[in-house]
Amino acid sequence: MKKMSLNVNGAWRQFIVEPDYVLLDLLRNDLRLTGTKQSCDRKGQCGACTVIVNGKAVRSCLTKVASIEGANVITVEGLGTPQNPHLIQEAFVISGAVQCGFCTPGMIMAAKALLDKNVNPTVEDIKKALRRNLCRCTGYKKIIEAVQLAGVFFRGELTPDQVRPDPKQGPIGVSHPRPSGMIKACGVAEFGADIHVAGSAELAAVHSPYPHALIKAIDTSVAENMPGVIGVMTAKDIKGTNRLKHTVPDRPILCDQKVRFIGDPVAVVLAETRDQALAGVQAVKIEYELLPVMMNPEDALAEGASRIDPDHPNLCFVQPQIRGDAETALKESAAVVETDFSTQTNHQAPLEPETCISYLEKEDGDLPTLVVIGRSINIHFHLGMLQDALGYENIRYEEAYSGGQFGMKVDVTSEGLAAAAALHFKRPVRYIPSLRESMWLTPKRHAFKMKVRLGADARGKLTAYAIDFTVNNGAYTSNGKAIINRALLMLSGSYYIPTIKALGQLVYTNTAWGAAARGAGAPQVNYALESAVDMLAVKQGIDPLEFRLMNSLRPGQPKSTGRVVEQWPLPELIEAIRPHYNRARKEAAEFNLKGHPVKRGVGLGTGSFGIGGPGDTATASVELDPDGGVTVFAAAADPGEGNDSMLTQIAAHLMNLPMDKIRLATRTTDRTTATGPAAASRITYMVGGAMVDAIHKLKTAMGEANAATAEELRAAGKPTRYLGTKKNEDAGPLDPKTGQGPSFESQVHAVQLVEVEVDTSTGEVRVIKMTTAVDPGRVIHPKNLEGQLEGGMDMGVGFALREKYVDGQTKDWTSFKFPTISHSFEMETIVRETPRVKGPLGATGVGEMTMVPTAPAVMNAIENACGARVRHLPATPDRVLEALAEAKR
Ligand code: FES
Ligand code: FES
Repeated sequence: MKKMSLNVNGAWRQFIVEPDYVLLDLLRNDLRLTGTKQSCDRKGQCGACTVIVNGKAVRSCLTKVASIEGANVITVEGLGTPQNPHLIQEAFVISGAVQCGFCTPGMIMAAKALLDKNVNPTVEDIKKALRRNLCRCTGYKKIIEAVQLAGVFFRGELTPDQVRPDPKQGPIGVSHPRPSGMIKACGVAEFGADIHVAGSAELAAVHSPYPHALIKAIDTSVAENMPGVIGVMTAKDIKGTNRLKHTVPDRPILCDQKVRFIGDPVAVVLAETRDQALAGVQAVKIEYELLPVMMNPEDALAEGASRIDPDHPNLCFVQPQIRGDAETALKESAAVVETDFSTQTNHQAPLEPETCISYLEKEDGDLPTLVVIGRSINIHFHLGMLQDALGYENIRYEEAYSGGQFGMKVDVTSEGLAAAAALHFKRPVRYIPSLRESMWLTPKRHAFKMKVRLGADARGKLTAYAIDFTVNNGAYTSNGKAIINRALLMLSGSYYIPTIKALGQLVYTNTAWGAAARGAGAPQVNYALESAVDMLAVKQGIDPLEFRLMNSLRPGQPKSTGRVVEQWPLPELIEAIRPHYNRARKEAAEFNLKGHPVKRGVGLGTGSFGIGGPGDTATASVELDPDGGVTVFAAAADPGEGNDSMLTQIAAHLMNLPMDKIRLATRTTDRTTATGPAAASRITYMVGGAMVDAIHKLKTAMGEANAATAEELRAAGKPTRYLGTKKNEDAGPLDPKTGQGPSFESQVHAVQLVEVEVDTSTGEVRVIKMTTAVDPGRVIHPKNLEGQLEGGMDMGVGFALREKYVDGQTKDWTSFKFPTISHSFEMETIVRETPRVKGPLGATGVGEMTMVPTAPAVMNAIENACGARVRHLPATPDRVLEALAEAKR
C-alpha cells in the first residue's frame, strides 16, 4: 500500500493504493467519475479511458496510480457541465460527433491534450492525436470536424453561439443539438456500468470452452466456498422455461443439457466483487462429453451429421424465390456471369461491453418488481422473453444509455443472466462483462455462401438472376429466418430483373449464433449482386454506371417478390453521382499512367433498402402537458442513431412548440407501449409515423374542443393523451414455394462511389474517398443523417477489407481488426429528398443504407484498379494477391 496525493479536476485528494491499482479504477470506483469509460479489457486498445495527466493524454487503464504521485489529472468531468460546457464539448455536440457517446469522453480528452498545445491542428495532427481512440458509430469524419471546430473556438474566430443553429430556424431540416448530446459529451449520461445500486453484488459467468458437448456434471462446491462468493447458479435454479425465445424457444439462459458454441453460458457466480466472482468461475468444475463439431454448413449438412438442435434438422429453414423461367432466360442471354461469393461471420462491435444491472424493487411488497436495466433495442419484446424464461411476471425493463449495438441487441444477452441471478439470490446484481465475454454473449452477422448466375441481353438489359445462398445460422435460431426472408425481399437490389430463381438455406452450426447486424442479410446478397452486375457490365463492354442506369427499376415495375414499386428515385441518384464518377475515373487514369505498383481504381455500388418489414406495426402516444408542452411516450430505443432528435423535432414542428417543450418518455416498459425494435431502419418511418398519427388525434381533439391547454381539453371531457399507430398494410409471409408476396412500404436508396488505391506488391487496399448519393425522403436532421451514412460507410469498409469474427480466436479489438481513425477516409454525401408518400413529413429510414452497397463498391474499385476480383470477404492483402494472380492466369 502507498499513501499518495493527486490533483483531480482541480482538487487535491489523498489515496492509499496498492502498487498495481490503475487510474481507471480510482476514477470510476473510488471517485465515481464514470465519464471515463472502459471498452477493451484494459489492453490499451480502445482509448475510451483517456484522461489527461500532467498535460498528456494517457489511457487510464494502463496508468498505475502509484506511479503518478503528485500528478495533475483532468477527466471529462473536469472540463464542463451540461449547463456550462467546455468549448470542445460544445464543438463535439454542434458537429454531430456524438452518437452513442461511449467513445466521446475519451475522444474529447485526447482532443484537449492536442488543442492545448496546438490550436490549429491539421487533419493529420488530429488523426495522430486520436489514433488510439476507437469509435464505431461516426466513421470518424465528424470527430475530426469537431476537433477542427474546437480549434476555431480556441482561436477566437467564432463562438458556439455563432455556429449553433438558431431555434428560430424551425425544427425540421436543421441540425439542432441532440437532446442527449451534451450529457454524453460531459460524461454524465449513465451507461450500464455507471449505475451503482446500493448493496449490489458482481456477476461472472462460466462459458463453455467447447463448441459442442453434453454437460455431464457440474460441481460448484469449491466455488461456493471461495472468499466473497455469494453463490453459484446453474440452470436448475431458473424457474421458468430457461429459454429465450426470439422465434424458437431454443436458447437457454444457462445451458442445461448441452453446449452448442464456444462461449455458451453454463453457470454464474455471484460475489461481492467482480474479481471474487471471476475467481469463483475458475473453481466451477464442469464435466463435458465432447460431441462432433460442425463449424460450417458443409459439415452440418454432410451425410450422417449429428443434430445440433435435437428438435430440428441442421437445415432448419429453406425459402425459394421463383419469378418467371430464369433457366431458359439464362440460356437465351447474350452474356452470363457465373461465379460464387462468400461473406464472413462478423461482430457488430459496439464499443460498450454487454452490461446489465438488475434488482428487486419494493422487496417488502407482495410481489417485488424485478428491474432490468440493459442495452435492449426492443424493451417490451425482451420483457416478454425474460418473463417466460424466468417464470416471473412482474418485470420492468429500462434502457440505459447504450454504447451502440448495430442490430446485435435484437436479442436478450446479459440480461438473462443478471436478472436470473437477481431473482435467485435476491441481491442487486451488476454484470459488467469483459469485452471477450461480451463477444461470447452476443449474436453475430451471418456468414453467407452464394452461387450466382446473372444474365443480360445483347444491349445489356438484365434478363435473369439465379442465386443459391447458404447461411450459417450458428448455434441458435434467433431471427435467422428473417435474415433469409429479408435477403429475398431485397434480392433484386435496385434493378428490374425479369426472371429470378433463388434458394435460401439456413443451417445450424457450432459457431456463435447469428442475428441482426446493420443491414441484416441485405449487405451479403447485395455484395453478390452488385459484384456480378459490375462483372457483367465489364464483360459486355458497357460502362458500369450506364449499365446500372439502364437496368434500374422504375415505378410500376416489380421487385423479385413481385411487388410493384410506386417510388424509385434511383436513376436520379445515378445521375447525381455521374460527375463525381467521371472526375474520379479521370484522376485514376492519370494516376495509373505513372506506372507505380500502387494502382488507383473507381467502383460503384447501389442499394435499395427496405424500411421495417411487411406488416410492420408501431405505436406511440402523445400527451398534452399542463404547461402546454407535449410528452411523447414511445419505446423507441436510441443507442446512438438520433431517434431522440427525430421525435423531438417532428413533434415540435407539428405542435408548433419550442423543442424544449417536447419531453420524451421512451426508455422504460412501464410508461410506454410496445413499438418494435430499433432495427430495420424503422424508427423514423414507423415510430415517427405513429407519433404523427397520435399528434393528429391530439390536434383534432383540441380543435373539436376549441382547447389550447390540457385543462381546457379535460374541461371539454376529452383525454389529454392519444395513441397513434402506423401499420404497413402489405402483410403476411412470402409464398413458401415461390417467394412471392408482401414487401416494404418504403425504401431508401443510395449510389456509392468508391476510390481506392491497391498496392499490387503487397495486396494492401486503401480507401481514399467514398461519395454517396442518397435519397432518404425528407431530411429531419442533416447532421444525424450524415452521421448514419458516414458510420455505415466506415463499417462497410471494415466488413469489406478487415473485420472477421472467428470463434475461439477473436477476443479483443486488435484480433477483430477494429477500424481506427488512421483507416478513415474522405467522405462526401449528396442528398436528394423525394418525399415518401406514407412517411412522417415525407421521411423514411436510413440507418443501414450505406452498409449495403459499400463492400461491393470497394470490390468493384479493386478490380477496376488492378483486375483482381475478390469474391470472398474480407479482402485481406492475401486475398487481393490471390485474386491478382488469378486475374493474370
Ligand atoms: S480501457 Fe483503456 S484503452 Fe481500453
Ligand atoms: S459515438 Fe463513438 S462509439 Fe458511439
